[in-house]
Amino acid sequence: MSEEYAITAQGVVKKFGEFTAVNGLDLFIPKGQIYGFLGPNGCGKSTSIRLLTGLLAPTAGDIEVLGLNVPQEAEKLKTKIGYMTQKFSLYDDLSVEENLFFMGRIYGLPEALLKKRLTAQLETYGLSQLKDNRVSGMSGGQKQRLSLAAATIHQPELLFLDEPTSAVDPENRREFWEQLFDLCESGTTILISTHYMDEAERCHNLAIMEAGVIRAHGLPETLMDNLGVTVVEVLADNLRQIKVQLLKSEYINSVAQLGVRLRVLVSEDISRPLEWLREQYPELRNATLEISRASLEDVFVSVTGEGRQ
Ligand SMILES: Nc1ncnc2c1ncn2[C@@H]1O[C@H](COP(=O)(O)OP(=O)(O)OP(=O)(O)O)[C@@H](O)[C@H]1O
Ligand SMILES: [Mg+2]
Repeated sequence: MSEEYAITAQGVVKKFGEFTAVNGLDLFIPKGQIYGFLGPNGCGKSTSIRLLTGLLAPTAGDIEVLGLNVPQEAEKLKTKIGYMTQKFSLYDDLSVEENLFFMGRIYGLPEALLKKRLTAQLETYGLSQLKDNRVSGMSGGQKQRLSLAAATIHQPELLFLDEPTSAVDPENRREFWEQLFDLCESGTTILISTHYMDEAERCHNLAIMEAGVIRAHGLPETLMDNLGVTVVEVLADNLRQIKVQLLKSEYINSVAQLGVRLRVLVSEDISRPLEWLREQYPELRNATLEISRASLEDVFVSVTGEGRQ
């Protein structure tokens, strides 16, 4: 494997009995990047992460993480990675400091280094004042900060974050991302799963997953630029009725209502979408039609086919 990749995966399949949760995963994740898995519930994000950490063995395929074969060499990998699970795995009855101490011990940090790291983590994640508090009484944002501090106490090269911001408000989410960019700048590679579009847009690279398959991948901007549709916003009366009409056309990939507007994804096969829409649909003759820039949500509905409902 090339030195430049933190993770490579080829043809990775995971079956649970008859059910295929991950179906042919191919990944090349460069070192030093924040890489996102974006996808709906049950698409296989957590299963993929577990496979990459070596916690689950694949049914087929090859995985290499930080130059180690996974799961064969998973034991060696353990101290090089951090993993923040979907449900924060903290000990409710222990204090903030005790949780960090415990994690440091698990990662085998020598006592003197552990003490130093503990102080540094409390400081970095704004937990110094709370160090003697028990986890059970803490807010979602505080628990999230502690989970990140615990997952990075041993300064891992690679960090797996499974929907780390689902339990916190937008402000905490923003702060959390600032911390991720700091980690990234200090050389940590980060793989993060999410179903928030705004969060996915912050990643350097992105894989959009659906039903165990990567439907599209690349830079968020490239995905948006190469969408293969024109986005038209429609301002009109009777939006519900218009939506039903529009969806009958094979040239329309998706129609979503956003307040008083419809966001319509028209296939690039139609060269003059505004004129075409007015000609095809008498109900749009007096409507305001405008071409709009593609968003990541447009990419998502377009590649997953969710927009045709
Ligand atoms: N141990 C297991 N045994 C059987 N089925 C499983 C197991 N783990 C996951 N699955 C199934 O595999 C599919 C993918 O699950 P996974 O947890 O990876 O999805 P996800 O993308 O993380 O979803 P979410 O956004 O809800 O966390 C789901 O249908 C799930 O029910
Ligand atoms: Mg999950």
